[in-house]
Amino acid sequence: MTANDFASTQSDSQDTAARRVLVWDALVRLFHWSLVGAFATAWLTAEDIQPVHQLAGYAVAGLVGFRVLWGLVGSRYARFTQFVRGPVRTASYIRKMVTGRERRYLGHNPAGAAMVVAILVTLSGTAFTGWLLESPDRAAATVGQMQITASAFADDNGSEAEAGTTGSPERRVGGPLKEVHETLANLMLLLVALHIGGVALASFRHRENLVRAMLTGRKRPPAPGDIS
Ligand code: HEM
Ligand code: HEM
Repeated sequence: MTANDFASTQSDSQDTAARRVLVWDALVRLFHWSLVGAFATAWLTAEDIQPVHQLAGYAVAGLVGFRVLWGLVGSRYARFTQFVRGPVRTASYIRKMVTGRERRYLGHNPAGAAMVVAILVTLSGTAFTGWLLESPDRAAATVGQMQITASAFADDNGSEAEAGTTGSPERRVGGPLKEVHETLANLMLLLVALHIGGVALASFRHRENLVRAMLTGRKRPPAPGDIS
């Protein structure tokens, strides 16, 4: 009995489990689940526990920084050049997805890839505006003009209390910058919901558990017609 004959006598699932290929390296997996934890912590502490909120926000920023670097020098399926596609290919993939004709990708599919980029960009903006919000001086230094920032921190009525310019230095925040920070954070919620929906849909369509793949790193080997 040859090795191939022996393999064909195994059940499909055993066979597939043994042949699963490594797609997500350990650092991508660690990055992903740490990001989920840090993002959730930043969200849950935003209103009440500022020190924890800021720490979690910085953790998110650090993780995003790491991922950008890893997207340039990381393992095959971690690299942006492997999965980021232009708008035409992404739109074509989404059209096929709608009609149920999309192919299976071993790495990120074009729609998932666009979502990864959107998440990384939005998280960078959220962390950056949070960092500016922490101290009006920072915003001033960034804009380079104290007066522009001062007016940005004032509200329409010019009321100090309502503009949030009274109280301890940490609380001297408010106005448009806070709104931008919150809007980006809310946009993240929408992206995460779409992300989880996309993961569920792709798992269902291609009959594979993508959440498990993000835990173990391994996926079913590519079949003819799949894109690896
Ligand atoms: C508990 C809920 C979540 C689940 C089950 C989940 C699951 C997954 C899975 C399965 C993938 C791989 C997708 C693929 O096969 O192409 C993935 C990728 C990704 N997810 Fe999530 N996710 C969750 C929450 C989040 C959250 C909250 C964020 C952002 C704050 C996030 C950001 C990302 C990013 C950036 C990637 C790309 C991974 C990489 O290439 O580094 N995910 N997620
Ligand atoms: C990237 C992840 C982050 C998320 C998802 C996030 C989310 C939020 C949300 C939803 C709020 C509104 C809370 C409310 O309703 O009052 C908020 C407020 C705030 N965040 Fe963040 N944030 C993040 C990062 C940061 C960072 C890195 C900092 C600073 C170092 C920061 C500083 C602040 C400050 C100062 C406020 C205003 C608090 C107040 O005056 O009520 N955030 N954030």
